[in-house]
Amino acid sequence: MARKKIIAGNWKMNKTPSEAVALINELKPLVANDEVDVVFCVPAIDLSVAIDAVKGSNIEIGAENMYFEESGAYTGEIAPNMLTDLGVKYVIIGHSERREYFAETDETVNKKVLKAFEHDITPIICCGESLTQREQGITIDWIRQQIKIAFLNVTADQAKKAVIAYEPIWAIGTGKTATSDQAEEVCAAIRQVIGEIYDDATAEAIRIQYGGSMNAGNAAELLAKPDIDGGLVGGASLKPEFGQIVNYNK
Ligand code: PGA
Repeated sequence: MARKKIIAGNWKMNKTPSEAVALINELKPLVANDEVDVVFCVPAIDLSVAIDAVKGSNIEIGAENMYFEESGAYTGEIAPNMLTDLGVKYVIIGHSERREYFAETDETVNKKVLKAFEHDITPIICCGESLTQREQGITIDWIRQQIKIAFLNVTADQAKKAVIAYEPIWAIGTGKTATSDQAEEVCAAIRQVIGEIYDDATAEAIRIQYGGSMNAGNAAELLAKPDIDGGLVGGASLKPEFGQIVNYNK
């Protein structure tokens, strides 16, 4: 069965709750496309109003982060059941900005992935190499290691439902998109390592997004690649342009 494409917006630290409602109302008609899963990942403080604002539309709401404990003395963190209580279906785990600025590691990513699955939240698991790593020729080795650690103790049934976002760090927010061949090479390698950890059926089922300066001009070419099943979109997800990305096939 063909994998359904999944296009997710990553709003990062943008939009107050009232601005979030206004943006959702503006984008709602533009992102109507039943052939694609559409997710808006919004700041934690916006989740509640965003869930209300998307009612009756094809948009699902995701969080940008989540903690790996159930509850307790973790000032400032968000527990998984706080997300599910609202109806949040997805959570971005291990974005490179969280790894760089908030000390997240492959190990904390793995703990968060396991916890998300425990609560039936679909993790969007981020991986990606720096420019130095690409220039050193270690991109594939690096990504394989990130994926192997992220999926430790994850079952095949869980892995089939996971979403992986391949985001070369040098392409994020820089306007410097990976070429579709560069993106496909790494996404194919990710599918291969999933096949090695699990089996062919799991590798065929898992969805792999590309992220990093995806826009209305390059989305169709990237999404035409056999191993690119969607996009994780930052800057362009805050604009009407996101509708063109979601409707890349129209
Ligand atoms: P960008 O961000 O589309 O602005 O490059 C992508 C991301 O960081 O998820």
